[in-house]
Amino acid sequence: SAAEKAGYDYFMLKEIAEQPKAVADTLLGRIDGSGTLSLDEVRIPARVLREVGKVVIVACGTAFHAGLIAKYAIEHWTRVPCEVELASEFRYRDPILDQQTLVVAISQSGETMDTLMALRHAREQGAKVLAICNTNGSTIPRESDAVLYTHAGPEVAVASTKAFLTQLVACYLVALYLGQVRGTKYGDEIRDVVRDLSRISGAVEQVLETMEPVRELARSLAHKNTVLFLGRHVGHPVALEGALKLKELAYMHAEGFAAGELKHGPIALIEEDLPVVVVVPSPRGRSVIHDKIVSNIQEIRARGARTIVIAEEGDEAVVPYADHLVRVPATPTLLQPLVATVPLQVFACELATARGNEVDQPRNLAKSVTVE
Ligand code: G6P
Repeated sequence: SAAEKAGYDYFMLKEIAEQPKAVADTLLGRIDGSGTLSLDEVRIPARVLREVGKVVIVACGTAFHAGLIAKYAIEHWTRVPCEVELASEFRYRDPILDQQTLVVAISQSGETMDTLMALRHAREQGAKVLAICNTNGSTIPRESDAVLYTHAGPEVAVASTKAFLTQLVACYLVALYLGQVRGTKYGDEIRDVVRDLSRISGAVEQVLETMEPVRELARSLAHKNTVLFLGRHVGHPVALEGALKLKELAYMHAEGFAAGELKHGPIALIEEDLPVVVVVPSPRGRSVIHDKIVSNIQEIRARGARTIVIAEEGDEAVVPYADHLVRVPATPTLLQPLVATVPLQVFACELATARGNEVDQPRNLAKSVTVE
């Protein structure tokens, strides 16, 4: 009903707008001002977490993209190898698991059949399973050893938005907590990032306040057939998520690529006026990949692409090559997906509306897929 949508035309718009609160709620009570995490609710003893030799993340759809981003955070802050796999592929290839494996199952609904079957398989092999889930008491957390709930509140629109951002927050918390418990050399960095996280919901709010030009751009592209998305590092999964949103909502051909792969194929797709969204990592800290992506933008623009560049405030190097520039607040690179994904959600939602599509209930899709 209209009342449930709180004045928004679609649940998706409401859920996009709720993201700063969803993010803040997911952090609430889990970090303190001094940069320390307390995740007592994760009922896997510190002793067991210190013994973990490998982390394996399983998920589907948008939750899988959260997992891809988690890999960067987990391996960096914990130095524990991390694999990410589509839940539908996982158990059919005889994966290597043992008691020192921590499996993280990410699912908004907690009912996705492929993810459930993957975690059952993992537990049968003796692995410990931690669920990241948005739905209290659903099947996946009930069958896991431990659960970290995301506090996004109910998500109604089929295409996931606020649940995704809170899945990212939960993944960062798991990565930082593992790092804290295991005491890696990144102790100081972990404390700094915890503080950055405590301010991140304000950054998400800031992005939402500046989305009108993105909506305008989306409307102007409603007649296009294809949009490409490029990113490096954590920007690569963000690009995949941007493309998925556009497929789900606008029924457009959209693909996400690692920008470094351009020369190995995707650049052949570039033609005059093809919209290409590029997610640019922070020039601070990881200047090498930043320089590389700036030259990727030059390369595609020289071949006629219409470049839509998502870059942090103060990044001037991208300005000459951006046909459209979308600014996001500066964050540590690993946290950038929390701000960089938001314009892509708004873009897909507005483009779908301009094409006359049903935003909350896209054709052929279901909110939760409870069959294999
Ligand atoms: C469906 C939904 C997606 C979601 C995926 C995984 O395909 O349409 O938005 O990302 O399932 O759902 P889960 O509930 O496991 O996160």
